Amino acid sequence: MQIPTHLAIIMDGNGRWAEQRHLPRVLGHRKGVESVQTIVDGCMDLGIRYLTLYAFSSENWGRPQEEVEALMGLLGTFLKKELSQLHKRGIRLMAVGELDRLPKSISKILKDIIKKTADNDHMVLNLALSYGSRNELTRAMQTLGREIAKGTLQADDITEEDIDAALDTHKIPDPDLLIRTSGEMRISNFLLWQAAYTELYFTETLWPDFSRDQLLQAIAEYSRRQRRFGLTGEQLRDAKEGHH
Ligand code: IPE
Ligand code: IPE
Ligand code: MG
Repeated sequence: MQIPTHLAIIMDGNGRWAEQRHLPRVLGHRKGVESVQTIVDGCMDLGIRYLTLYAFSSENWGRPQEEVEALMGLLGTFLKKELSQLHKRGIRLMAVGELDRLPKSISKILKDIIKKTADNDHMVLNLALSYGSRNELTRAMQTLGREIAKGTLQADDITEEDIDAALDTHKIPDPDLLIRTSGEMRISNFLLWQAAYTELYFTETLWPDFSRDQLLQAIAEYSRRQRRFGLTGEQLRDAKEGHH
C-alpha cells in the first residue's frame, strides 16, 4: 500500500453525531477527541510522517460563545493530558493558524509542548487552530510586503517558494491526501494553497465514528489513485520504468 507522507483531515460532524443522539453538541466534540487519539495511533502505526488535523477554523470563532468555550476547554485538556504521551511516543507537535487569538493559557501550553517535542522525529502532529487559509495567505502577503518595503525583496522576484516560505506550513510538505468526514464536499478554507495537488477523500462517516478501519480504507483508495500533476499517464509510466 502507498502510504501518504502527509495526511490532512477535516474532522467534521461532531455536532450532528450528538444531535442524532439528542445530546448537547459539546458531547460530540468530547467523543471526537477519542477519534483523534485513535487516528493519531493509527497514523503512527502506518508510518505516516505528518498528520494535520483541522481542529478549529477562523470562522468557528463565530459559533455560540458557550460552544467556543467548550472547544477551548477540550483543547486545553487534550494538550495537558497528551503531552507526556506525545513525547513518549516520539511525536513532534506543531501548530498552524492565528495562534495569538487562542486563550493565553492554551497558547502557553501549546508553545511549551511544541518546544519540548521539537527534536522528536517519529511523526509530526500538526494542529490547525484558529486556522483559515485566506487568513494565512493574507498574513503571508503582509510578510512579503514588509520585505519589499524594507528593500530586501523585489516584487518581480517573488517566487512560489517565497510564498511557501511565508506560510504557517513552511516546514511541512504539501498534503498528499485530505480526508473530510461527515459527507460535506467542501474545503472550508483549509490549506487552499497547499492542497493544489492533494488527493481528496470524502466519507459520510461522522468524525466521532471514524475508526482505524476507515482510515485504512481511505489509504487503500489513495493507493489506487494515479497522481499525474498535470502530466500524461504515459509520461508517468515512462518515468517509473526509468525512461527519459
Ligand atoms: C467539527 O464538528 C468540529 C469543529 C468544527 C470544531 P462540527 O461541530 O462542525 O459538527 P457539525 O458539522 O455541526 O456536525
Ligand atoms: C471545518 O468544519 C472546520 C473544522 C473541522 C475545524 P466546519 O463545520 O466549520 O465547516 P462548514 O461550516 O461546514 O463549512
Ligand atoms: Mg461542521
